[in-house]
Amino acid sequence: MTKLNTDQSVLDFIYEPVHRQLEAVEDKLRSLSNQEHSALEGLLAHTSLIPGKRVRPAITLLAGRTQQGSEELLVTMGAAMELLHVSSLIHDDMVDHASLRRGRATVNSLWDNNIAVMFGDYMFAVSAVHVCDTGNVRVVRRFAETIMELSTGQILESFSAFNANCSLDQYNDRIYNKTATLFRTAAESGAILSGAPESTVQLFVEYGRNLGMAFQIIDDILDFEGIEEEVGKPVGLDLIEGKVTLPTLLLMERYPQDNSIDALFKGKNREANHKRVLEMLRNSSVLSDSYAVAGEFCDQAKRTLLQLPDTRERRSMMELASYVLERRR
Ligand code: IPE
Ligand code: IPE
Ligand code: MG
Ligand code: MG
Ligand code: MG
Repeated sequence: MTKLNTDQSVLDFIYEPVHRQLEAVEDKLRSLSNQEHSALEGLLAHTSLIPGKRVRPAITLLAGRTQQGSEELLVTMGAAMELLHVSSLIHDDMVDHASLRRGRATVNSLWDNNIAVMFGDYMFAVSAVHVCDTGNVRVVRRFAETIMELSTGQILESFSAFNANCSLDQYNDRIYNKTATLFRTAAESGAILSGAPESTVQLFVEYGRNLGMAFQIIDDILDFEGIEEEVGKPVGLDLIEGKVTLPTLLLMERYPQDNSIDALFKGKNREANHKRVLEMLRNSSVLSDSYAVAGEFCDQAKRTLLQLPDTRERRSMMELASYVLERRR
């Protein structure tokens, strides 16, 4: 609990320059639950009122303050980024068979998979309406490309489930697509909508991409060492769902002769192999090595920011890169 509060106060400091605009994003999300078709009321209230960390809209808003852009456009885009994230989570929880999200029951568990598919689609479309409201075709195109990449990442992950043969390149490709693309778009769209020059837009592309890569690696680490009450979602699911992530990838690299992960994925002696893999993880340095890899992505993100003027917003984005490494939820 203490850690959770610390996490929140760090985020409050980071979000401070865009605190008012983030409130406006929050209002937009809240308004969804009382405007739409009454049949969807329960679903909309469930998904738009439960707060997450709001990292993606914060990135859009911070990136959008490099130039004097229209605040209204940025708030609209920030809301779109959160809605796109939420819709991807609704589908993700269904494919991952997860029952908990943000400390509450998931749509697939409270309703069912059919509802999760269709309501996830609905939320994708709500997000698209917001992006269209920016009137910026480049941003609309980037948004569509993001959905293509998100889907590609999730499909790659399903295709590779229960397959212990995974290279680092394949892992990086998968996490760029399923996670970092959205961070990239959050940052890139903020810069585009604020009218930043192309060279600055490209800096934000790099910042978002590297931050997103680190974010997913930490997520994959927290799946092993996080606490369910803190992260607000199930832990330990990746191995059960047959997903090779950075910690297990490094473990297999370290112990090429030990085939516990392969054996676990092939369904042999499941319980014993599962225990064995967790024991090997605990007794090795793979988790701290995974932190180091995430740290390199964060350092790269920070180096990119150094090319921008030294402002309070830049400091926030620097601190966000540090927060991503330390977060417990
Ligand atoms: C969870 O994202 C999905 C991943 C890409 C790992 P967040 O950790 O940002 O989730 P919320 O929005 O705070 O719930
Ligand atoms: C990221 O992967 C999910 C999305 C890109 C939607 P995970 O499946 O690991 O995310 P969590 O752990 O459920 O939040
Ligand atoms: Mg998941
Ligand atoms: Mg998933
Ligand atoms: Mg995860």
